[in-house]
Amino acid sequence: MHGVERVGVIGSGQMGGGIAQVAAQNGFATVVYDLDSAALGRCKSLHDKLFNRAVEKGKMSAEQVRDAQGRLTYSDRIADIHGSDIVIEAVVEKASVKKDIFKGLAGAVSDRTILASNTSSISITDLATSVGDKADRFIGMHFFNPVPVMKLVEVINGLATSKETTERVLALSTAMGKTAVPANDRAGFVSNRILMPMINEAFYTWMEGVAEPEHIDEIMKLGMAHPMGPLRLADFIGLDTCVHIMEVMAEGLNNPRYRACPLLKQLVVAGRLGDKTKHGVFKYE
Ligand code: CAA
Ligand code: NAD
Repeated sequence: MHGVERVGVIGSGQMGGGIAQVAAQNGFATVVYDLDSAALGRCKSLHDKLFNRAVEKGKMSAEQVRDAQGRLTYSDRIADIHGSDIVIEAVVEKASVKKDIFKGLAGAVSDRTILASNTSSISITDLATSVGDKADRFIGMHFFNPVPVMKLVEVINGLATSKETTERVLALSTAMGKTAVPANDRAGFVSNRILMPMINEAFYTWMEGVAEPEHIDEIMKLGMAHPMGPLRLADFIGLDTCVHIMEVMAEGLNNPRYRACPLLKQLVVAGRLGDKTKHGVFKYE
């Protein structure tokens, strides 16, 4: 049994917002914390929009939506998540930022609280060094974007993660309507070890003029039955996140073949981060 009633989520961006929504929809009292109150506002608006659409489509009743909304709290004070039974961190893909957050949390949460990171690629063993003797309760809980739609949670044990923590997280994933699949603690785990080199190669293909971006995507969609082409998917994930993941893999797997394509890096330098800035590879309304 997971023993979780209260879920705390750190970061109210596309992943944190989605994780909080799914937790609340599945009956958990959920606090989502972000240091940026504008991000919290955007998160709440998106939740309200998605809940309204679920009612219109008959997927949720108005009462179910009211209950889910009633279980959601949006906060810009980290102390509001200290009473959680699990904290799921979903901030920028940078080890130093994540470690600072967990270091602060380790002394503030209870001895039973699970500390989970939604990192896409960073070593769980490394992140767990920030929580001292709570490393046995530290785990990777990797959700996929968009969280309300994608069924998978990739579960990653660090070297010190206890069996009990893993079992609680597997049970919690099921209670959140997801299918948990284990992967070992290597940079990029399984999902991004395979996905990101494909996305990176799409940028090289574009940079070398092999085809226009829309044609690269069309070829991969129609030829490979992918729901989105790799360049559209990169915009959807966030080009900054793609670069961070490639950098973590190049360093963590000690192999230059994971270096980010110069064109991908250049777009990030120019502030073209994808959907979140309404301009990445493609432009959005
Ligand atoms: N948040 C919540 N729900 C969303 C959403 C979002 N951002 N975007 C779409 N949806 C929902 C819609 O509400 C709709 O739900 P209903 O059927 O209940 O109405 C459903 O998804 C389908 O949406 P659409 O009909 O508008 O669009 P679509 O059929 O083109 O599907 C998609 C959209 C689900 C995003 C689909 O294009 C897809 O599966 N794309 C690939 C996504 C993918 O590969 N994700 C993994 C990214 S990698 C990752 O997450 C790991 C990492 O570490 C980087
Ligand atoms: P995002 O940029 O949409 O959101 C990050 C949020 O974290 C922002 O709202 C920001 O204000 C907040 N934040 C930053 N520093 C903070 C801090 N110190 N304290 C509190 N809040 C802080 O990013 P995202 O796409 O949601 O990604 C978040 C994490 O999830 C990353 O580790 C990423 O690798 C991982 N992830 C992303 C995807 C994806 O498709 N985007 C999929 C799976 C996992």
